[in-house]
Amino acid sequence: MTAELDPNGTEPTAEPVIGPDIVPGPLGTPPPEFARRRECGPLDPATMPSGDRVPMAVRYEDVRALLASPTSSRNLRLPGLPRFVSGVGIDDDPDALINQDPPEHTRYRRIMQGTFTPRQTEPWRPRIAAIAGDLLDGLGDRFELVEDYALRLPAHVICEMLGVPVDDYERFVQWTDMFLTTSTATEQARYEGYGDFLAYAAELVAQHRRSPGDDLIDLLIQARDADDRLTEGELVNTVFSLITAGYETTASMIARGVFRLLLHPRQWDELVADPSLTAVAVEEVLRFDGPPASAFMRRITEDTDLPGGSLRAGTVVMPNLNAANHDPEAFPDPGRFDIHRFTDHPPNPHVAFGYGAHRCLAASLARVELTEAVRALVTRRPALRLTGSPESVAWTDGLVLRPVALHVTSAPVTTSPPAAAPG
Ligand code: HEM
Repeated sequence: MTAELDPNGTEPTAEPVIGPDIVPGPLGTPPPEFARRRECGPLDPATMPSGDRVPMAVRYEDVRALLASPTSSRNLRLPGLPRFVSGVGIDDDPDALINQDPPEHTRYRRIMQGTFTPRQTEPWRPRIAAIAGDLLDGLGDRFELVEDYALRLPAHVICEMLGVPVDDYERFVQWTDMFLTTSTATEQARYEGYGDFLAYAAELVAQHRRSPGDDLIDLLIQARDADDRLTEGELVNTVFSLITAGYETTASMIARGVFRLLLHPRQWDELVADPSLTAVAVEEVLRFDGPPASAFMRRITEDTDLPGGSLRAGTVVMPNLNAANHDPEAFPDPGRFDIHRFTDHPPNPHVAFGYGAHRCLAASLARVELTEAVRALVTRRPALRLTGSPESVAWTDGLVLRPVALHVTSAPVTTSPPAAAPG
């Protein structure tokens, strides 16, 4: 099957809408449309929230080939290229790690890599577990899990790691909300939010230069590769990216994962009975529900053959990670949520953290956060359940998809006393 499109000759639709191509199915499952596409249009164009139409890769093999290909560029800063959302956004930032191609990407990433190895992040596990425990201890039997837990845990973690006052949390919530989870924010509001956030990150770097410590920002200021360091722009951008990527993505994954587990009470009970299963269960959560935002689009620099078709030089393409994670060729019976899927006979690895050069820099930290978030719930709130129907849960409609709110109760289930015997 060949999907040859005119490079950039993608017609924007008149009305910008997310469109049926990427709108989630019931209960946050992948759009039913993905299955049809994988079968008969693996690189067919799809409508992005901007209204631009670009080919979308939905098969596991295509997505991995695309992300690993030296012809896939993250430089989308050429005039007139399609965008995921309209207006100025992350794709326009020349300093962001995610927007670099080799050799700049290789150099930039090598400097940062050392700060996120499992060796660096594993010592944070007890602290992350303690933050999760403290958050839950401060909540009653009935609470709203997204705001009170899923968003707060990674915010606390990234603030502590970077050396940012935890009270600043409220400030960056507003910014990330604006350009990540709400599709209704105007282009102007998103642009201003982006600028304010970068100014805030620049101020944090300046503060740490004035009074150095041993926080992550200080490590990044000192991080070097031979005689090379991050430039000032790269440093500021890194702090910004770590807050946005480290906070909203992880929070959304916690919210999506807990929601999914609560839809499968028997599997939840298994975790309650044996919390040591949590780490492997989290891999299935990542496959089934991850990532909460898709990969960034790629620009093809030379005509490229993928297993599912060919793309011409100049085409901008969307690798859809969630669709790849549900490809039956890679994951048998992909619609079945099974916390044991990755236990004994690990199938193909999921691509929730991406693939190739831009694979998530902090996957090991994200795994620790997700595991400890779920472990704290199953150990401290074993009777957790939704108070309303799963169907009534509203979902965000921006770049990152997650339940807007999850009202839960953890009161032990009481069986009604037997009716008093008459007389
Ligand atoms: C469960 C949580 C997370 C998920 C599912 C996730 C997913 C991803 C994915 C899919 C990519 C690749 C995007 C692409 O190739 O287009 C990525 C890249 C990245 N992530 Fe994560 N991420 C998570 C948490 C984090 C955290 C906690 C941080 C930092 C504290 C982080 C920092 C980054 C950075 C800096 C990149 C860019 C890497 C590069 O361009 O070389 N992520 N992430």
